[in-house]
Amino acid sequence: MTRTILTYPNSILAATSTRVEDITEEIRTLAQEMAETMYKEDGIGLAAPQVGENIRLVTVDISGPSKREDLRILVNPEIIEKRGTTESEEGCLSVVGYRAKVKRSAWAGIKALDLEGNPVEFEADELMAICLQHEIDHLNGVLFIDHISRLKRTLYDRKVGKWLRNKHRDAKK
Ligand code: NI
Repeated sequence: MTRTILTYPNSILAATSTRVEDITEEIRTLAQEMAETMYKEDGIGLAAPQVGENIRLVTVDISGPSKREDLRILVNPEIIEKRGTTESEEGCLSVVGYRAKVKRSAWAGIKALDLEGNPVEFEADELMAICLQHEIDHLNGVLFIDHISRLKRTLYDRKVGKWLRNKHRDAKK
């Protein structure tokens, strides 16, 4: 089953997510549904708040969106070390119709649990490092548009405001 992706400015996306204390059957099902949703939407990463659950769970597959060969499901992921800087254009399934350049660390040391509850630790660089920083941001209520200039953000907010007003108007017709 796939899930509906929430979009900005939904308040769930701005909330801090809570740690997973117990990897229950419910969590495993959610992880499966998140992976299916990420693939269906041609994403390379998805965080639980994007499907309406404020818990610290992410799915990532940077072999995508055309391939589906490197699925990683991370519970309570944390960045334990960062190095260097890089800048690349980012988009987000929850931020409709917008992409922008974002500065990130070029390298990150990551700590998490897998779905069996085993601790995993690995190093990420390039796209993997960027993607994980983006997804972990989601768990802290942060979107990539929170990293852009105030001017760019204002322009995007105006665009979203216009869409919302049009949607509201169309709904009343
Ligand atoms: Ni995103």
